[in-house]
Amino acid sequence: MMKAVTVKAGMKLPWGTRYSLSLLILLSSIIFLCNGQDYGTPTEDGAGGGEPPPEMAHCNGIFMSYSFGSREREYPHVKNVTAQSWEFKATAMIVNAGKEELMGWQMFIGFRHKELIVSATGAAPMDGDYHLDASNGTTFIGSPNTDLKTSIETAGDFTQISTNIEITGTLFGVAKSVMPMPKTPKLINDGWECPAAKRKG
Ligand SMILES: *[C@@H]1O[C@H](CO)[C@@H](O)[C@H](O)[C@H]1NC(C)=O
Ligand SMILES: *[C@@H]1O[C@H](CO)[C@@H](O)[C@H](O)[C@H]1NC(C)=O
Repeated sequence: MMKAVTVKAGMKLPWGTRYSLSLLILLSSIIFLCNGQDYGTPTEDGAGGGEPPPEMAHCNGIFMSYSFGSREREYPHVKNVTAQSWEFKATAMIVNAGKEELMGWQMFIGFRHKELIVSATGAAPMDGDYHLDASNGTTFIGSPNTDLKTSIETAGDFTQISTNIEITGTLFGVAKSVMPMPKTPKLINDGWECPAAKRKG
């Protein structure tokens, strides 16, 4: 089953107006806030993988998501759950759904299962190289595309307004029944704000 954490961050404009800050977290269920309105609960299918989830249509800022894909037990196989390592795959996505270009995007993902990031497409770690100890979370920057243009200036060209980050890594100590989700992803660029995460499930 695909699970996802999504955050939308509104933009603080130079003249002080702030776009709405919205959050979307998909754990065992989905909380979806945008401009304080409830747009309903999208299906898990729509929220996963590389395709833009339907709720993005309601976002006018930066849209981010994290979807857990799969995991496989790695060698050595041990009985101690804490010591067992797992290969995992996940997809993070960042989309500029606003009307301002996002220059030099920086997306923090709050990993918390002793993750080692072994590779990621479309992004590079801000600190260090692969394989990267991301046990306290890590920040990705765009690579090769460091900036996200707007739909307006690219006629909606998804390759220029978004980045899909296919993450492969190792994590530790999570029982089979537990979905190893990170804390909410965050845009840490100056001038942007992300709200605190709200979770359910
Ligand atoms: C299980 O593994 C953890 C992490 O390596 C270790 O700290 C702990 O002592 C181990 N527990 C047992 C019962 O061996
Ligand atoms: C993670 O945070 C702990 C506590 O602050 C610190 O001791 C440790 O060195 C950090 N690990 C990494 C890889 O930054």
